[in-house]
Amino acid sequence: MPSILPLTPENIEKAATALRAGELVAFPTETVYGLGADATNDKAVAKIYEAKNRPSFNPLIVHLPDIDGVRRLAEFSPLADRLSAKFWPGAISFVLPRKPGCPLSKLVSAGLPTFAARVPAKKSARDLLRAAGIPVAGPSANRSGRISPTQAAHVASDLGDRVSIILDDGPCAVGVESTVLDLTGGTPTILRPGGVTQEDIEATLGQPIAVASSNEDSPKSPGMLLSHYAPRLPVRLNARGPNDGEAYLGFGGSTGAEMNLSVRGDLTEAAANLFAFLHELDDPRWSGIAVAAIPEEGLGRAINDRLRRAAAPRG
Ligand code: TXA
Ligand code: MG
Repeated sequence: MPSILPLTPENIEKAATALRAGELVAFPTETVYGLGADATNDKAVAKIYEAKNRPSFNPLIVHLPDIDGVRRLAEFSPLADRLSAKFWPGAISFVLPRKPGCPLSKLVSAGLPTFAARVPAKKSARDLLRAAGIPVAGPSANRSGRISPTQAAHVASDLGDRVSIILDDGPCAVGVESTVLDLTGGTPTILRPGGVTQEDIEATLGQPIAVASSNEDSPKSPGMLLSHYAPRLPVRLNARGPNDGEAYLGFGGSTGAEMNLSVRGDLTEAAANLFAFLHELDDPRWSGIAVAAIPEEGLGRAINDRLRRAAAPRG
């Protein structure tokens, strides 16, 4: 089994050294745990795809400790200047053009002339990135198609010894992945809803932005593949209650629920609980997971996006 290392300065150094040596390190961010590798090292990046069983056409998010680090690798438009100043560090990734001579592995971009960058807000993540001194590619630290990990124990149970080190900094505060915003075209376009809401981005820009439809035939972002984020059990959405044998995941005033994403009906709390509760209920003593309706606004969009994928026909 992998070693789960509690957050100490020595363990940050240990994890940073492993990253520089081309090893895989699972690390905490405020969204979900990431499966990190040196983003300039093709072999290290390849290990990520291997550990996750990830289709190789799916590009990865690259993590840096500060905006200056991203500027060394990517072209910034005036729009990217504004949005990064407002939302970084934070739960949003921007798809930006690679600079000429960009040292990032081509595998990270899956051959595209762009890459997705993120400066995470969690202090331990930035401490690790600074100690490593290299850009770190990091998808969520789960096997492809499984639920994203919001605790170190989730990573250990899903990836086992496919990862050598798991740096443990407790549960993730946001609980859903970062918003992926494409800044390479004319209109900023949300490729994946996430921790920063469409409403927040539009309020900052003072103009509406576009949202890519999750069309399974031509996913603009491969992360939009419909059957994704799936527990092993079948998932039924907008349920008023459980059918025979089902576990019920409630929201707000739901009664008879095994677990409730937020009794107060708070979407931030619900996002933080989402993956941990799905992990918990994904147990063979039930026949399926019925989930209460979640309002389609603010963080509810990201939650519903993940739930629709969890409920989609398995491919
Ligand atoms: O919160 C998060 O974003 C987590 C933590 C660990 O940072 N990471 C994460 O990474 O979820 P990943 O690799 O699972 O998701 C990357 C998403 C996918 O939807 C992918 O298709 C999209 O970003 N993406 C990455 N690079 C892209 C690019 N160059 N063009 C379009 N989409 C891209
Ligand atoms: Mg993922």
